[in-house]
Amino acid sequence: MSYLEVSKISKYFNDPEHRGTFCVFEDIDLKIKKSEFITVVGHSGCGKSTLLNIIAGLEEASSGGVILEGKEVNRPGLDRSVVFQNFALIPWMTVFENIRLAVKAANPDWSKNQIKEHAFKYIDLVNLREAAKKKPSALSGGMKQRVGLARAFCINPKVLLLDEPFAQIDALTRGVIQDELVEMWEDSKSTVFMVTHDVDEAILLSDRVVLMTNGPNACIGEIVEIDIPRPRTRTSIIEHPNYYKIRNHIIHFLVERSQKLSSVNDNKESNNGNKIVSFKRELISGEKKTA
Ligand SMILES: Nc1ncnc2c1ncn2[C@@H]1O[C@H](COP(=O)(O)OP(=O)(O)O)[C@@H](O)[C@H]1O
Ligand SMILES: [Mg+2]
Repeated sequence: MSYLEVSKISKYFNDPEHRGTFCVFEDIDLKIKKSEFITVVGHSGCGKSTLLNIIAGLEEASSGGVILEGKEVNRPGLDRSVVFQNFALIPWMTVFENIRLAVKAANPDWSKNQIKEHAFKYIDLVNLREAAKKKPSALSGGMKQRVGLARAFCINPKVLLLDEPFAQIDALTRGVIQDELVEMWEDSKSTVFMVTHDVDEAILLSDRVVLMTNGPNACIGEIVEIDIPRPRTRTSIIEHPNYYKIRNHIIHFLVERSQKLSSVNDNKESNNGNKIVSFKRELISGEKKTA
């Protein structure tokens, strides 16, 4: 059995214009292994955040369910941490206090010293020791998101859910924080489910990239395996012989095929069957014949 399973999830929202409901996505099936790093890429509005929120237990699926280590997820819990685009830090607390609060909540029987030590381990992992006494209003966007990531990792969750965490962060800072994220992920061996719109980021970080077709009525178009060996750096991966093939494949999907596949799905002729694309042996495996 997989570690985290998204099983036949569909989501309908009320359609304010037409009074009925509309389908965000249908029959999303995804099996995620322990410690796997999954990214989800797709056009705006295809339901990436909705899917992440369902896994977080913040949103209810219309049908289907999420199973984590054999147990159904139906409410938020400390076994899953969420990092949002807008940081969501507690504004009147310092960096240290924001992180301490999470450590304390996850480990209520720890001593004051244990909590402090653990909080500082994560403050150091994101290089914020100098800013530990500052409040969020005194931090740059990049620093705020470092607090967000440290707070998410410090409770040692089974699953980390990251919803475009670097969207508001400039490219140079983003690179540094991506490295810190990888370091914390490798240290914790948590399972990561991350939404991003940055194809290079997806390739750099992921074991597999889930490509969603356009909404409404979105589905998983295909899943691309990233077999570029780790450790990866932004400069080393571009030298890998498959890097540009993978990158072009994903971009081609987003520009052309995400729309075509979604109209196939609208016609109910096919629901993808999670086509797996692997560049390992320079071939595309699992190719499904579509109309
Ligand atoms: N609470 C809600 N009520 C009604 N419609 C919603 C709600 N949340 C999201 N939607 C709609 O669902 C679709 C998917 O949204 P979202 O998951 O935010 O997409 P993404 O993150 O891929 O951009 C969009 O059309 C959005 O407008
Ligand atoms: Mg979103």
